[in-house]
Amino acid sequence: CRCSSVEKYLQPFQLSPETLQEVSARLRKDLLRGLGKHSHHKAPVKMLPTFVRATPDGTEKGDFLALDLGGTNFRVLHVRVEEEAQKVQICAIPQEMMLGTGEQLFDHIATCLGDFLESHNLKGQTLPLGFTFSFPCEQLEIDKSILIRWTKGFNCSGVEGKDVVQLLKEAIHRRGDYHIGSVAMVNDTVGTMMSCGYKDQSCEIGMIIGTGTNACYMEEIKNVKRIEGKDGRMCINTEWGGFGDDGCLDDILTEFDVEVDKTSINPGVHIFEKMISGMYLGEIVRLVLVKMTKDKLLFKGQISEALGTPGRFETKFISEIEEPDSGLENAKKILTELGLDWDLVDASVVRLVCDTISSRSAYLCAAALATLVNRIRNNRKLGHLKTTVGVDGTVYRKHPTKLQKAVRLLAPQCDITFLVSEDGSGTGAAMVTAVAQRLAHQSR
Ligand code: BG6
Ligand code: GLC
Repeated sequence: CRCSSVEKYLQPFQLSPETLQEVSARLRKDLLRGLGKHSHHKAPVKMLPTFVRATPDGTEKGDFLALDLGGTNFRVLHVRVEEEAQKVQICAIPQEMMLGTGEQLFDHIATCLGDFLESHNLKGQTLPLGFTFSFPCEQLEIDKSILIRWTKGFNCSGVEGKDVVQLLKEAIHRRGDYHIGSVAMVNDTVGTMMSCGYKDQSCEIGMIIGTGTNACYMEEIKNVKRIEGKDGRMCINTEWGGFGDDGCLDDILTEFDVEVDKTSINPGVHIFEKMISGMYLGEIVRLVLVKMTKDKLLFKGQISEALGTPGRFETKFISEIEEPDSGLENAKKILTELGLDWDLVDASVVRLVCDTISSRSAYLCAAALATLVNRIRNNRKLGHLKTTVGVDGTVYRKHPTKLQKAVRLLAPQCDITFLVSEDGSGTGAAMVTAVAQRLAHQSR
């Protein structure tokens, strides 16, 4: 039967619980490496300090602007923390701009913000601004943050190595028609943790499984060797997408992962992310289908032009094809749209491929999350940890249950609540400023 030959192609994607434990153990070592004093330049998992020292207590107040760049949508927001009221505008970032100059990108951002202020009659005010910037940054202060490198689809020139807050301020200054107050810059994981933390005060982890993948968590300052001081905690942006960049996951990479990495705009970088996140999952499925078709297992051996084109099998097809009720129908429709001559066995095999690739993504993320919750539990010398993870991202929203089940198996001493961020991470960026204001007020 064709199905048993299919197994041979999928087997390298099926990771046993023992392998996942091993992945988790390797990440545990890499977290420590990243936290070391000097090693972070070379460390694959960068463990970046965020200067966020406290999560919300629910009493925060204030009126803020927020920008949210780096996921599917670029958003401009006006947030009133205590009212949960917010105005949001989504602006497109054209693909050529993602690969153009930094100046063009920041001018575009400043224009979107200017238009937003204009249309909401906010131009005369000087509001504090939370800036969610979902890329790895070496943060020097809450408003000074150097881009280490672009990830996902961005590659604008003249930004790596520069302070992105400064670039934003310069772009606003070039226009000269409005002002902003103090800026707090955060990663999207941090924004997600902070916005979920306003509703649930035990939220001390933020996780994104969307275009890219990453997580942050509250670490004991005494363990962060690059930061002075011994008391209290600081949120660390792990940048776990870079896990495996030193080759430590090579034994679990498939030929398809190697190909996805090779043809990406940043080969050798963010290997773990390329096995997990939305930017790459569809392409992995496409490569598997192409290989099976070449070996005459699918579509009577005929690759259509669409199936042969990189990027044409979109990640959203995976969840559509996996739907419990309408999945098979969706599969047929998608295969037809891709110009393929399919039969019923083809459609079921495609479903199996999608399920295998999205399950691997969920299990790998579960292994990484298990590493973080176990670390927090050990840090606090607790036999049992009860905690909340704030989550966002299109891939998580479509496939939450596999990850949840797997993490419970891998971290049995932790009781984890998952809270999906309803209003994105922009609100959380504003919250960082609100928490800082509350702390300053309390210490007066
Ligand atoms: C959004 C957050 O809701 O989720 C962004 O506000 C984040 O900051 C994004 O980057 C991740 O999801 P995706 O799937 O859009 O990349
Ligand atoms: C990429 C970025 C990281 C971000 C993640 C999720 O991994 O490097 O900063 O948090 O994508 O958007």
